[in-house]
Amino acid sequence: MSQEQLKQAVADAALDYLRPLLENDSVLGIGTGSTANLFIDRLAGIKGLVNATVASSEASAARLKSHGIPVYDLNTVDQVDFYVDGADESNAALQLIKGGGAALTREKIVAAVAAKFICIADESKLVHTLGQFPLPVEVIPMARSHVARELVKLGGDPVYREGVVTDNGNVILDVYNFPIPQPLAMEQKINNITGVVTNGLFALRPADVLLLGTSQGVKTLHAQ
Ligand code: 5RP
Repeated sequence: MSQEQLKQAVADAALDYLRPLLENDSVLGIGTGSTANLFIDRLAGIKGLVNATVASSEASAARLKSHGIPVYDLNTVDQVDFYVDGADESNAALQLIKGGGAALTREKIVAAVAAKFICIADESKLVHTLGQFPLPVEVIPMARSHVARELVKLGGDPVYREGVVTDNGNVILDVYNFPIPQPLAMEQKINNITGVVTNGLFALRPADVLLLGTSQGVKTLHAQ
């Protein structure tokens, strides 16, 4: 199966997972990226059952609205029941690297509010140790060089993502050559650098469930 087919399979699996759990007042958090987009397109098929969504990016909000699915500001909802989003990497503890699409900060905010975080990804994303994918760090523009120097001190090779401005008006540094055996400690350490908005490690708030698309079918993984 192609990676595209595996992404479609997990988008379908997420819909099957959620459909029986949706209630009249449910609020769905919606992620960002190509896998999340496939999920949004499937969600459109049951939009009559969808009370409200909150989106982790302007792009996802626009896609949801284009299907006629109601999108709310996070500040106007009392709770987010489920958050569905892709990932760039996951380890067996369902700690993630996210932010390949530059939406990491809003993704982390929605994930923090959500009662249940359902991650959808193809099998290429499951790794033993996080960090083969360069770690995205969202940075206040004037702090870019300072943060880059601090990331070098931590052992990484930060590269400015040219031409990208986040939905929050900030820039992204991608940290290469940076294996992360202790994601929880590293997430906090990087967030403590002045000028960092947040980093793409989701260890303080990992996923609760990973629907993993494999050539043997979609596997449902829980944190080990
Ligand atoms: C966006 C993200 C995405 O979830 C991540 O990049 C995976 O994207 P895709 O589903 O296109 O592989 O974190 O900021």
